[in-house]
Amino acid sequence: MNTSPSQNAIIFVWLLCGIMFNTAFCSFNIHCNQQDMHGLLNFKQGVTDPSGVLSSWTTQLDCCHWKGVICSNITNRVIGISLLCFTTLPIYRDEDDKSHCLTGSIRLSLLLVELEFLEYLNLRNNDFLALQFDYLHNHNCHNLSIPTSPRLCVNSSTLRHLDLSLNWNLVINSLQWLPNISSLEYLNLRDNDLSMESNWLQLVTMLPSLSFLGMRACQLKDLSLSLQYANFTKLEFLSLSANEFNSELPKWLFNLSCGIYELDLSSSSLIGHLPKDLLNLRELDFLNMEDNNFDGPIPDWLGHFKHLETLILGVNKFSGSIPTNLGNLSTLITLVVGSNPLTGVVSERNFAKLSKLKELGIYSYVGLTFDFDSDWIPPFQLEELVLGFSNPNLPAWFYTQRSLERLTIWDSSFEAPDKFWNLLSSVIEFELQDNSIDANMSNVLLNSTVIVLSSNGLKSSLPRLSPQVTIVSLSNNSLSGELSPLLCGHNVSNGKNNLLYLDISFNNLSGGLTNCWKNWKSLVVVHLGRNNLSGKIPSSLGFLSNLTSLHLHENKLHGDIPLSLHNCRSLLVFNVRNNQLSGNIPDWISHGVLALQLRSNHFRGKISTQICEMSSLIVLDIAQNTISGDIPSCFGNIKTLLFNNVSRYKLSFEFPSSVPGSYFINDDNLELVTKGQILEYGKNLHFMTLIDMSSNNLSGTIPPQMFSLTGLHSLNLSNNKLAGEIPNEIGNMKNLESLDFSTNQLGGEIPESLSRLSFLGFLNLSFNNLTGKIPSGTQLQGFSALSYMGNYDLCGPPLTKFCFQDNKHKDTEHEDRKQSEFLTWFYIGMESGFVTGFLGVCCAIFLNKKLRHAFFKFLYDLRYRLHSWWSST
Ligand SMILES: *[C@@H]1O[C@H](CO)[C@@H](O)[C@H](O)[C@H]1NC(C)=O
Ligand SMILES: *[C@@H]1O[C@H](CO)[C@@H](O)[C@H](O)[C@H]1NC(C)=O
Ligand SMILES: *[C@@H]1O[C@H](CO)[C@@H](O)[C@H](O)[C@H]1NC(C)=O
Ligand SMILES: *[C@@H]1O[C@H](CO)[C@@H](O)[C@H](O)[C@H]1NC(C)=O
Ligand SMILES: *[C@@H]1O[C@H](CO)[C@@H](O)[C@H](O)[C@H]1NC(C)=O
Ligand SMILES: *[C@@H]1O[C@H](CO)[C@@H](O)[C@H](O)[C@H]1NC(C)=O
Ligand SMILES: *[C@@H]1O[C@H](CO)[C@@H](O)[C@H](O)[C@H]1NC(C)=O
Ligand SMILES: *[C@@H]1O[C@H](CO)[C@@H](O)[C@H](O)[C@H]1NC(C)=O
Ligand SMILES: *[C@@H]1O[C@H](CO)[C@@H](O)[C@H](O)[C@H]1NC(C)=O
Ligand SMILES: *[C@@H]1O[C@H](CO)[C@@H](O)[C@H](O)[C@H]1NC(C)=O
Repeated sequence: MNTSPSQNAIIFVWLLCGIMFNTAFCSFNIHCNQQDMHGLLNFKQGVTDPSGVLSSWTTQLDCCHWKGVICSNITNRVIGISLLCFTTLPIYRDEDDKSHCLTGSIRLSLLLVELEFLEYLNLRNNDFLALQFDYLHNHNCHNLSIPTSPRLCVNSSTLRHLDLSLNWNLVINSLQWLPNISSLEYLNLRDNDLSMESNWLQLVTMLPSLSFLGMRACQLKDLSLSLQYANFTKLEFLSLSANEFNSELPKWLFNLSCGIYELDLSSSSLIGHLPKDLLNLRELDFLNMEDNNFDGPIPDWLGHFKHLETLILGVNKFSGSIPTNLGNLSTLITLVVGSNPLTGVVSERNFAKLSKLKELGIYSYVGLTFDFDSDWIPPFQLEELVLGFSNPNLPAWFYTQRSLERLTIWDSSFEAPDKFWNLLSSVIEFELQDNSIDANMSNVLLNSTVIVLSSNGLKSSLPRLSPQVTIVSLSNNSLSGELSPLLCGHNVSNGKNNLLYLDISFNNLSGGLTNCWKNWKSLVVVHLGRNNLSGKIPSSLGFLSNLTSLHLHENKLHGDIPLSLHNCRSLLVFNVRNNQLSGNIPDWISHGVLALQLRSNHFRGKISTQICEMSSLIVLDIAQNTISGDIPSCFGNIKTLLFNNVSRYKLSFEFPSSVPGSYFINDDNLELVTKGQILEYGKNLHFMTLIDMSSNNLSGTIPPQMFSLTGLHSLNLSNNKLAGEIPNEIGNMKNLESLDFSTNQLGGEIPESLSRLSFLGFLNLSFNNLTGKIPSGTQLQGFSALSYMGNYDLCGPPLTKFCFQDNKHKDTEHEDRKQSEFLTWFYIGMESGFVTGFLGVCCAIFLNKKLRHAFFKFLYDLRYRLHSWWSST
């Protein structure tokens, strides 16, 4: 052991202990080796530590007691560093919040040289940015700041475990240092950026002891197709998922001499048929090929694997029928062949020996026929089942499954007898959207945690919910009657409910919103749009202090918005469009609100400056009311509209499901008027920034501050009484895609700067009092005459009216005419371009149902991925 500690340090620690009696740290033996401590302090120097994770890393404390440092209890040398960052995924946030995690650089070479006995280094889920290779003059190594330098300065024969995974912003330019950590057994680089290192495979194969290799989502592109043989000898786990290989499976994969157990190649853009050589990996117990572009049949030789427990082939292009040989895989626990264009018949022969099966996914978007013997009793009891089939009934064996926890059925129209609902009441989560289930819900008690029954044929009055329900979606059915059976029923236990998400939009509900919201304080999202609800908005909605999204659009609600909604301090989306609500604009609503949609009501009064305190607004839609007065000049305070930075909020609701690592996700959505069309924004809502004040009684001039909103995509002030001129500053609104000032009293000339808005795809300046020449030779001629008609004295193309002041010379007139002919063609070209563009959007909406489908499928698949990932890493 090192016997040259600084006497001063010891005396200091003695003194400190004497003063503080901090027995936890003041053992009188100083364990820490000074070289180790020096190495750790060097490491700390490279780190930025916003939340003081390393605050215990000071010379006053024994370094064996520093947070995350592990010393050998025999030699007292540092053998491990474990500094994982724990993060949570907030509802309505794009990714985990990592602001408290470690960042900066990892001084890897110094660490490994100085901590001679380091075996374990785990920095998972932090936010490190770079690996740093220092120049060490005492050691025989070279300056490594140059990424391509072949001379590297890393040396360790002790490190066995290296985990840098989930540092999303960590860029590793080169892996040439890797072979110098000759003892490595576990290497996890998940989510690190390795796009610069094309030689990764060759370098990794130089590690003779490697048994775990995790390279998920490393931006790898090259699978070394030409390589015949990779000499891994100890590899047991290999994940190359979520990379962009765009190639077939490489030869070296089938030629691994080691006994590989787990192989994850999901989501890696792999193509081709599955080659029979895969059988060489005969020890496999986990095979995930999900979400690639594999085609051809699902091979029957897959039935020859002796140890396979997990087989995931979903979301590919496998066609033909499901081979009955898969029924030989008696060790199988998870079988997923969903989301492939499979055809043919599925029968009990497909499952003959699958007695251990717990998770089964059988689904085809082409259509599978089930032909099960009605007396067949499966050898398995499933926990999770995903089905899609083209029979009118569920197979009889379904009712033998008494352990089901999660059930998903898509695109199958089947009858739901009482015994179906009875079985469902013990299922924890179910998703049964788009199944044409025709059922009377009035006597049903829903007893699951997650309930998705949207887009079916459910009818009569609302079902009741038991207290453990957290998510319920009944949208797009034919449910009628009042809300009270669900919200106010006698079984509604006071305050004991756990409901977070309630969606009964697109039904035929009538009556009022009830005053029973106090019982449902946990609600985060409420969708009641497009029903026949009437009466006032009840003040008891103010009890929902966690409410983030409230959609009451397209009902018959009237009266003022109750002041109690001020208590909904988490509100992000407030949508009451198309009702008969009155009063002033509720500018007192949560100042954190992102989208305020009050369109088509009877709101009146002025726009107060309070509205600008909603500094996170991305959508302000107050069109089609009777709002009067001036537009306040404070709009420049709405910070989110000043820059074209996408909102950090993704407007989707994410709620953890009972399976670790998987989430119930539902995108918020709003119907917005932009580009002269009604468009639905869902997944992309947080990219949209819009102000729509059209069809009110606004007067005065447009305040110049409005034109500092350079992040705005869509501005509609049409059908008001606005006067004054369009200022030149409009040219600053670089991100504007849609601009509508039509039917006002704007005068003066169209500023030249308007032509600099290169994203502008829709412009309407018609029916104003504009004069002068439309700036020529610019994209402003690309819009049709309809964009400019009805103005006092506007001239030049695309209008047919000539500008006489420009016709001083015959030549110029000739030029103009030539130009205008050209522009007509140019314009036609533009128009068709625009139409195609628009069709694209249109089809996206039209296909939305399918897209959503695909999305749910993806989530389902993701669940498996995450599930398997968590359980194996
Ligand atoms: C050292 O620690 C290990 C586990 O950390 C423990 O199993 C072992 O018994 C300890 N040895 C001594 C001598 O304390
Ligand atoms: C290492 O190389 C980089 C890039 O050439 C240089 O900036 C740096 O000063 C060098 N460091 C040392 C210690 O020589
Ligand atoms: C390993 O380290 C030595 C000395 O530090 C260095 O010279 C050598 O280039 C390194 N080897 C590899 C393969 O990087
Ligand atoms: C690498 O480290 C070992 C001990 O850990 C040492 O014996 C060896 O000399 C080092 N190699 C180089 C090239 O520095
Ligand atoms: C694999 O082969 C390379 C040479 O191609 C060699 O450097 C390396 O040590 C070998 N690895 C193992 C684990 O045998
Ligand atoms: C597998 O590796 C051996 C060398 O060990 C080589 O001869 C053979 O061609 C390889 N097979 C395939 C299918 O690449
Ligand atoms: C596998 O299943 C097929 C059809 O179900 C059967 O013909 C075959 O004998 C089975 N093979 C084995 C090894 O069990
Ligand atoms: C409702 O669910 C709970 C807990 O999941 C369960 O104990 C209870 O038996 C279920 N009720 C019915 C009627 O199935
Ligand atoms: C609101 O959300 C917070 C944080 O998720 C939670 O602790 C609290 O219990 C919730 N409030 C209600 C009334 O459910
Ligand atoms: C339109 O503009 C002309 C000239 O600029 C002006 O004389 C006229 O009063 C304006 N009309 C209205 C309705 O503002």
